[in-house]
Order: sequence, then C-alpha cells, then structure tokens
Amino acid sequence: MERRDFIRLFSQAQFVAAVGRPEGLPPPGPPEVAFAGRSNVGKSSAINALLGRRSLARTSKTPGRTQTINFYDLDGVAQLVDLPGYGYARVPQAVRAQWQSLVSAYLQDRTTLAGVVVIMDARHPLTPLDRQLLAWLGDIRRLLLLSKADKLSRAEQAATLKRVGGEALLFSSVTRQGVEECRGLLEGWLQQAAEIKSPR
Ligand code: GTP
Ligand code: MG
Repeated sequence: MERRDFIRLFSQAQFVAAVGRPEGLPPPGPPEVAFAGRSNVGKSSAINALLGRRSLARTSKTPGRTQTINFYDLDGVAQLVDLPGYGYARVPQAVRAQWQSLVSAYLQDRTTLAGVVVIMDARHPLTPLDRQLLAWLGDIRRLLLLSKADKLSRAEQAATLKRVGGEALLFSSVTRQGVEECRGLLEGWLQQAAEIKSPR
C-alpha cells in the first residue's frame, strides 16, 4: 500500500465496537495495533492525536474512563484498539480481575495483532505494572511512547529518554510532538502485516 493511502486511512477512522467480555471479542479481521498502559496516561488521547480527531476515542480527567476494549476501523484495512488502563488504585478488585481476563484474552490470542503501543507517562515511566506488561508481551512487537512530554523541560525529556532506552518515543497529544513519527512507525507495522497476509 502506498504511503498516501495510509494518510487517507488514518483520517477515515470509525468506531466499531466496545467489548467488555472476552466472549465478545470480534473475530480477527484486518491487522490491529493495540494501545496499552496505566490509567490516565493518555492512551485514548494518543489515538485521537494519531487519527487527527478531537474526540473519536473518549478521554477523561477521571482515571479508568476506558473500561472496555474499543475498536476503531481504518477503512477495513487496519484497526486501532484502545485497551482499558491498568493500575488505578481505586478500581475494586473484581474490576481489576475482569481487566486482567479481558486484556490477557485479547493480547494472548489475537492472531491479527501487528503490535502494541505501550504508553507510559514521561514523568513516571517503567512502573512495576509497566514492566509486568512489557514482560508479559513476550515477543509481541512494541513501541514505547512517553506521553505528556509537554509537561517536561527539554533537559527532563532527554534524561527520561536516556533512562527508558533508545527505542522509546517522546509524545504529546497536546503539542503533537512525536505524532508524525509514531504514525510512520505504525504504518510500517501495518504495511508489513498486510504484505504477510497477501504476498505478491
Ligand atoms: P483511561 O482510559 O482511564 O485508561 O485513560 P487514558 O490513558 O485513555 O487517558 P486519556 O486519553 O483519557 O487522558 C487522561 C487525561 O490526560 C486527560 O485529562 C487528557 O486531557 C490528559 N492528557 C492526555 N494526553 C496528554 C498530553 O499529551 N499532554 C497533557 N498535558 N495532557 C494529556
Ligand atoms: Mg482511555
């Protein structure tokens, strides 16, 4: 697929489904990129920024807004998947257990998963739960986004990047720092997945 087709794709996203139970997951379709991370780090905001939409994915000041797995279709060719956030202390144990079963069912069995964008707050990256998620992803391809980079000075950004390691990308939904670069990387993933599916 040509690069300009992807630009068109990212601007034509549509909400398709919100899924609250493993049994409700739609059958695998086109390649998917999932967004995972702690509650309130800006997963839904990042999806909106990448799609150039103000409020397609619901965002909130209240942690724990996204409780379901939300699927966004890109013209039938790819999907972006907004996962509910983890690590919000006030969530009752029963809800946490439900998150676990839902998200693990998704991440472990999704044959069409092209990769996972792991979003961490640039001010507090690599919390124990983040490390747990990263370990759990095993050999699933991932991109680390350091969100809310606009809250850090240049020097702090550089220090954070160094601490997390070279593969992370500083990102801000507010200033759009890192948005184009991130989109380019995801296009590469989706492109590759599409080629594997239909070799020429
Ligand atoms: P859950 O669905 O609860 O897991 O949260 P989420 O990770 O989807 O976060 P969401 O996108 O709803 O954003 C949470 C809060 O952070 C909102 O008040 C956003 O406006 C704010 N926010 C998100 N991204 C940024 C960013 O890049 N910079 C700043 N300054 N604020 C941001
Ligand atoms: Mg959300």
